[in-house]
Amino acid sequence: MLKKLRRFLRYNLKYLGNPPWDTGISPPELINFLENHESGRALDVGCGTGTNLLTMAGYGWRVAGMDIALLPVLKARKRLHASGYPDDVFLGSVTSRQLENRRFELVLDIGCFHSLNEEGRKLYRQNLREWLVHGGHFLIYAHCRPTPSAPYGVSDQDFEAFETSLKLEWRTEQKEKRPNVSRQRTTVWAQFQKPG
Ligand SMILES: C[S@@+](CC[C@H](N)C(=O)[O-])C[C@H]1O[C@@H](n2cnc3c(N)ncnc32)[C@H](O)[C@@H]1O
Repeated sequence: MLKKLRRFLRYNLKYLGNPPWDTGISPPELINFLENHESGRALDVGCGTGTNLLTMAGYGWRVAGMDIALLPVLKARKRLHASGYPDDVFLGSVTSRQLENRRFELVLDIGCFHSLNEEGRKLYRQNLREWLVHGGHFLIYAHCRPTPSAPYGVSDQDFEAFETSLKLEWRTEQKEKRPNVSRQRTTVWAQFQKPG
C-alpha cells in the first residue's frame, strides 16, 4: 500500500515539471508499426500526456490510455478531445483489473513495465494476456536491467516470461545517447504477437 502510494506520488510530482521522456514526439518504432499494420483498438499503458495516443488515433486506431498519474491523464484527455477523438484515458495502475473486459489489437508500453517490481510484473503479464486479442501485438520499449540485482529494468527472464504466452517477433537493443551522462543506459525495443 505504502509502495503504491509512493509510486503514485513519484510520478505525479514528475509531471509538475517537464519529465525528460515527455518529448511530444512518437518514436520511429511505433510509426513503423502503424504504417505496416491494419488499424484496430490500441491500449497505451503508462500513456503519459498522450503523444502516442494522438499518433495512433491519427493512423485510424481507436485508442485507450492508462496512467497512474493524474496530471498526464487529464492532459491526454484534453489533447484527444481537442483533436476530436474520444478521450478514453483512465487513471489507474497497469497492475489492477480495471480494464479487464476490454480487448485490443495493440498494447503499447513505452517506459512503464521496466519500473514495476516482481509482483507488479506478474500482474501486468496476466492483464496483458487478457487485453490482447489472438493475433494482437505487444510493442514495448524499456531500459535493460543494468545489474541482476537492480530494482528496475527488463531482464532476459522478463522476456522468457512474456514468451510463455506471446511469440517474440523481433527485439533490438541499443545504447541510449544521453548528453552529459557518463553511464550510458542500454534500452530495448521488442514486438510480440499473441498466437492466433
Ligand atoms: C517513462 S514515462 C513514459 C510516458 C509515455 N509512455 C511516453 O512515452 O511519453 C512512464 C509512464 O508510466 C506511468 N506509470 C508508472 N507506473 C505505472 C503503473 N503502475 N500503471 C500505470 N502507469 C504507470 C508513469 O506515470 C509515466 O507516465
